[in-house]
Amino acid sequence: MNKKNFYITTPIYYPSAKLHIGHAYCTTIADAIARFKRLAGYDVFFLTGSDEHGQKIQRTAESQGVTPLEYVDKIVEGFQELWQRLNISNNDFIRTSEPRHQKVVQEIFKKIQDKGDIYKGSYTGLYCTPCESYWTEHQLDENGCCPDCHRPVEKVSEEAYFFKLSNYADRILDHIEKNPDFIVPTSRRNEMINFIKQGLEDLCISRTSFDWGIPVPDDEKHVIYVWFDAVINYITPFYDDPDRFQKFWPADIHLVGKEIVRFHSIIWPAMLMAADLPLPKQIYGHGWLITDSGKMSKSVGNVVDPMLLIDEFSADAIRYFLLREITLGQDGNFNRDALITRINSDLANDLGNLLHRTLNMINKFQGGIVNAFDGESEIDKSLKNDAINTATEYKNLMENIQLSDAVKKVWTFISRANKYIDETMPWKLAKDETQKQTLSNTLYNLVESLRIISILISPLMPSTAQKIFEQLNLNDFEKIQIEDALTFGKFPINHKINKPQQLFPRIEVK
Ligand code: MSP
Repeated sequence: MNKKNFYITTPIYYPSAKLHIGHAYCTTIADAIARFKRLAGYDVFFLTGSDEHGQKIQRTAESQGVTPLEYVDKIVEGFQELWQRLNISNNDFIRTSEPRHQKVVQEIFKKIQDKGDIYKGSYTGLYCTPCESYWTEHQLDENGCCPDCHRPVEKVSEEAYFFKLSNYADRILDHIEKNPDFIVPTSRRNEMINFIKQGLEDLCISRTSFDWGIPVPDDEKHVIYVWFDAVINYITPFYDDPDRFQKFWPADIHLVGKEIVRFHSIIWPAMLMAADLPLPKQIYGHGWLITDSGKMSKSVGNVVDPMLLIDEFSADAIRYFLLREITLGQDGNFNRDALITRINSDLANDLGNLLHRTLNMINKFQGGIVNAFDGESEIDKSLKNDAINTATEYKNLMENIQLSDAVKKVWTFISRANKYIDETMPWKLAKDETQKQTLSNTLYNLVESLRIISILISPLMPSTAQKIFEQLNLNDFEKIQIEDALTFGKFPINHKINKPQQLFPRIEVK
């Protein structure tokens, strides 16, 4: 049988500084989706990378007395280390400074130019260097600054190549209107529709004022505009491989922050139309992680370093918080106290206790052996129904990318399983010889619930899921599939479990 394919991307991050928790947020969401799709039997391609060209990087490198490449090499190493420590399962990592990318960008440029949709002209405009974006007068904020980052813009005039974006306005509008799921959420979709309706101007796609970029084919004094270069990363990994191109393109989801939806849902599709390539299926614009002092930004000085958080609390605790606390598409607050509360109540307490109590009781009352079950009480029946309903609803929510709701569902079931212990009181059953089978049934239902829980949390908290698997002494964690969570009663009988080990220590609040 042919495997189903799934392709998801994150934006490629600027290596102008170290990544903060806001960047980790986007990559964590993409990772949870990618892992869920693998769990659901898809052949997944998950891509992230670094967007290395442009004037800002060149200037920063110069100010530090190193070449742009030397400068980005170091920072990008930090990106890759962060993704590794955060347990990100990307299949490839694109650096736009790589020759494989340069080649594809020049080919696409040439293809569109040969078709007549790239022409040479002259450009005078207002440029925001930090955002690498040109703005028109009426797009500036009330202080005459960049509408995105609110820093001053510069007037720039240069001979330049232009992409005939205006030619594609009608086709793109038509595509957005005919495909309600092309841009999600709806608020972003409406913004884009309004944006296009105001008219699209041709896009200036080359620069001569600096040289840290991909040269325009046959006109090397120009480098290609960093956004034109950057979006092409999404096809770089398989542009020269027709089988893989066919398999993974068009992408299923480009997951991006809300401020860059425009580049992904208007400019990138127009470029693809011009190059006669299919459009991505969906652009998902997520919200921002904000702190008590507003959107995280280096200039404001309120950035939170994800590496330090991982050192202090573990990758899975951070992943859990990001996935659970913020509704995808909306802005969400990042706050240390809230993080600690979640770790203590949801992870150390709810999940940790369920595992610990269950394994302890099996060790104490049954010598560490999971016995066969026989019969079921009303309470057993209701627990089993809840388990199956949880797994089914979780699957639907994950398929619809309602990650935070999916997480909440699992935790409702964890609370329910803890309550089952209180209701059935295995320590009481253990004292009564005539209740031996009931005790076996109860403990069976608990380990089986834990097996299901560990499968459901595997896309969210992969190393915790694996630890639970190991404590349950189950094999083949890598081979689990979502179907394994949809049936109650798969836990092996006469099976020896291991000693419980703490998953998350309680954080003492000073
Ligand atoms: N290089 C471009 C993207 C090119 S994609 C072809 C870029 N880079 S970025 O490093 O500035 O931002 C990358 C992503 O991080 C964006 O989607 C942005 O929304 C996201 N975030 C930056 N700060 C963020 C928060 N505080 N919260 C959530 N996401 C944030 O744009």
